[in-house]
Amino acid sequence: MSGLFERLASELSEMKGQGVYKTLVHLDSPQDAVVTLAETGREVINLCSNNYLGLCNTPEVVRAGSAAYEELGAGTSSVRFICGTFSIHKRLEEKIADFLGTESALTYVSCWTANEGLMPTFLGDEDALISDELNHASIIDGVRMTKAKRKIYKHSDMAELQQALKDTQAARHRFIISDGVFSMEGDICKLPDMLELAEKYDAALALDDSHATGVLGETGRGTAEHYGLHGRVHVITSTLGKALGGAAGGFTAGPEALTDYLTQRSRPQLFSNALPPATAAHSLAAIEHLEKHPELVRKLRANTSYFRERLLEEGFKPIEGDTPIVPIIIGETAEAIRMSKMLLDEGVFVIGFGYPVVPKGTARVRCQISAAHETEHLDAVIDAMKRVGSQLGIV
Ligand SMILES: Cc1ncc(COP(=O)(O)O)c(C=O)c1O
Repeated sequence: MSGLFERLASELSEMKGQGVYKTLVHLDSPQDAVVTLAETGREVINLCSNNYLGLCNTPEVVRAGSAAYEELGAGTSSVRFICGTFSIHKRLEEKIADFLGTESALTYVSCWTANEGLMPTFLGDEDALISDELNHASIIDGVRMTKAKRKIYKHSDMAELQQALKDTQAARHRFIISDGVFSMEGDICKLPDMLELAEKYDAALALDDSHATGVLGETGRGTAEHYGLHGRVHVITSTLGKALGGAAGGFTAGPEALTDYLTQRSRPQLFSNALPPATAAHSLAAIEHLEKHPELVRKLRANTSYFRERLLEEGFKPIEGDTPIVPIIIGETAEAIRMSKMLLDEGVFVIGFGYPVVPKGTARVRCQISAAHETEHLDAVIDAMKRVGSQLGIV
């Protein structure tokens, strides 16, 4: 015991020495296009929130949360199957299912728990679980917790996916899981090919659409809508902590038999409290707001195209893509962290990501665009990036 904390302290000082230690930035304002830094009271342009549609701080959405707080109190004080299910959970789940074109949906306190509580619940050692190598950490942990035979295919490599399906033909079930939009790269999975393969080899296909729900498709219904395949994906997990209100919570949407089974057996459902009612009401209001305002999705798309074009014009080389995740590869972790600190000094809040969040040598500054941004914000970011980029010799 005694040596443990000394070791941790020594590793922490090594991280500081190597310039890879993460310093938390404290905010004293809601998530929005501009946020206030707690330490200095300075306002900076926010380029690192997942508040894709600005619903985190949209008055009608926030009011729905406060009203539910007043009406229903702070939380459920219980797990779902004991006395933790409120009618607001049912209304939210019906709305999610309707929005995504699935039979049903089941909420969790986060998408992390939705992913961890998914595969281990119904796959056993006679099954096969097939996963993209760049899937989100919550999927990776869910895969690790599952007893099924595992196949990890190279990122978006459809030939490897097909091979994995061929190699596991003897399994009772094959279950493929992938991010819809990959969070560190910002690219979209090859859903049409994946669906075709899943159908050909009789596999179930699950997408984690955390960065796609509210973002992709004409009306923000996600990866499936983007490809004209709305209602065709067997299972969708996603978060309520990004575009859909930005509070917290996640869900699994799919056939009734799946969500009912998860209600009976998924360990985070059985052993952890339900989503607080105010958060459920806030998320429900966020989806209703999005349904009434599809122009938010169009604005997000227009902002993204504008920002990507301006970056290219100024000589930056963001990873190509169509999503509001716009990563600029820097290389070394310390350099990406340095760039983000310099940008903060210039009034732009954007985070540098390095190992172990992304592979060594591919550290990056990940810009995230929101419908809350106006062109002036994006222009100011580009000006700051030009100054910092030229000081660092990137442009
Ligand atoms: C692809 C993906 N899945 C799951 C999660 C976890 O979501 P939550 O914050 O709801 O746990 C994230 C969050 O970063 C994510 O990017």
